[in-house]
Amino acid sequence: MTAEGARSFLATGAAYDGYMGRYSRPLAAAFADAAGVVSGLSGLDVGCGPGALTGELVSRLGAASVWALDPSPPFVAECAARHPGVAVQVGRAESVPFADGSFDRVLAQLVLHFVTEPAVAAAEFRRVLRPGGVAAACVWDFAAGMQMLSRFWAAALVLDPDAPDEARTLRFGKEGEIPELLAGAGFADIEESTIEVASTYADYDELWSGYLAGIGPAGTYCLGLPAAGRAALRAELYRHVGEPTGAFTLTATARCATGRHE
Ligand SMILES: C[S@@+](CC[C@H](N)C(=O)[O-])C[C@H]1O[C@@H](n2cnc3c(N)ncnc32)[C@H](O)[C@@H]1O
Repeated sequence: MTAEGARSFLATGAAYDGYMGRYSRPLAAAFADAAGVVSGLSGLDVGCGPGALTGELVSRLGAASVWALDPSPPFVAECAARHPGVAVQVGRAESVPFADGSFDRVLAQLVLHFVTEPAVAAAEFRRVLRPGGVAAACVWDFAAGMQMLSRFWAAALVLDPDAPDEARTLRFGKEGEIPELLAGAGFADIEESTIEVASTYADYDELWSGYLAGIGPAGTYCLGLPAAGRAALRAELYRHVGEPTGAFTLTATARCATGRHE
């Protein structure tokens, strides 16, 4: 049975890249900076997906010092294929399969809002860190504008007032939410920041095809619509992104927090 949280993440790595990886790759570099990921340390990537952050960790730490886990078997296979030498395994943030004090850095990029028991996950991050180690987590700030998702949901709400807008249904995208989680787990020296990234689409079809991969809440919602509803949403979203006739760029802001295990 597929683990809770991974059900909408059973896509191929290529489909994920076209939809979200195009944002999570540039995000990974800034996020690793915020977490103080530097040569000589060890790092665990929790909820690695196909490996956007894993690759950034490998470039800084070397594959032998990087571990990664995700509940989605296809993503685990893809991450392992993309990053030879990294120990990648199926697992969940709420039950990290490592001994106490194993890592210098534990990072979760765009994962917390899919975790069923975030407080348990934060406690797990602290448990597997060495004293002095740092946990870092980031998620999209929907209010500040993860445009690829916020415009999708704005368009969906025009047609369906009950559409499950991620800004309403998912936690941790607002200021103070990740720091509060880390503080509750006993972390010290908590720092919060925002990271902005952007992605350029060749045309509107490239953006629209991303949702059709069925990834995450927006993709799941899009694929669940009848054909007529999907066509109406396609037209409505086109208006919400400014009716582009060629290439266009969308921006995304992530909210990030780090905490130290004293
Ligand atoms: C938006 S993707 C982010 C993937 C990757 N970190 C990135 O930045 O591209 C969310 C990931 O969280 C994973 N996930 C869902 N529930 C999880 C849980 N309880 N523990 C760990 N990962 C989880 C999903 O399988 C998916 O790979």
